[in-house]
Amino acid sequence: MEDRIREAVDFLSSKITSSPVIGIILGTGLGGITEKIEMELRVPYEEIPHFPVSTIEGHRGTLVFGALAGKKVVAMEGRFHLYEGYTPEEVTFPVRVMSKLGVRYLFISSAAGGLDPEFTPGDLMVVMDHINFTWTNPLIGPNLDALGPRFPDMSEVYDRDLINTAKKEAANIEISLKEGVYAGVLGPSLETPAETRFLRMAGADAVGMSTVSEVIVGVHCELKILLIVVITNVNIPDAMEKTSLEEVIAAAGKASPGLSLLWERVIGALP
Ligand code: HPA
Repeated sequence: MEDRIREAVDFLSSKITSSPVIGIILGTGLGGITEKIEMELRVPYEEIPHFPVSTIEGHRGTLVFGALAGKKVVAMEGRFHLYEGYTPEEVTFPVRVMSKLGVRYLFISSAAGGLDPEFTPGDLMVVMDHINFTWTNPLIGPNLDALGPRFPDMSEVYDRDLINTAKKEAANIEISLKEGVYAGVLGPSLETPAETRFLRMAGADAVGMSTVSEVIVGVHCELKILLIVVITNVNIPDAMEKTSLEEVIAAAGKASPGLSLLWERVIGALP
């Protein structure tokens, strides 16, 4: 694994002039922020040694290097999900590569189903904590001590300073930003009413099929993490409505400009 990471990093480093400091992972329908990046380089995943390739609608598969709000960034347009059949190691490989390229901050966006009945589709929620309900973990197996500790501490996964900055900047641009707990599930089937009730009782405010694996690896390599999810649909156990991919993509697309602006402001406010 260390060799594979090194090969991907060497390939990318030879193409860029300076190291990115911020890594961005874009969720379903949330690619808009890359339009704001002053682009230096765009690399399709299939050209990068050992990179997986994304398969689903609404996800492109390119790594974008450039500057945003005066900071060097690398953004993943298109990400990998466990439900596509990728291993947890494959899903998180890009995070390890970004970290070795010099990234210190990891910004993640994602589409999610709302579990808090007060939420409405289009809401943005900054994630304060998560529950890993994917029945797996990307750190299973021998620990690579050179990359991080055997038992990473998870007492404060999401960086408080970044959360506070996001709240402040959201207020400045008059975007309402909810706060809550994200439950990461495996998918691809959506939740039954009983599962939805269970997740809510477990303390989750939103549920999605991505992100927790990348976040766990982000903690392993000591990145400062900010996760903002777009609530694309709201699931109420006693009044479940059908959820479609079209609806998720449409709701995410509507929220995308607000989220892009928020991220630009948060990145601009970084030291
Ligand atoms: N459940 C799981 N993942 C999701 C949902 C949902 O309702 N909406 C968007 N991603």
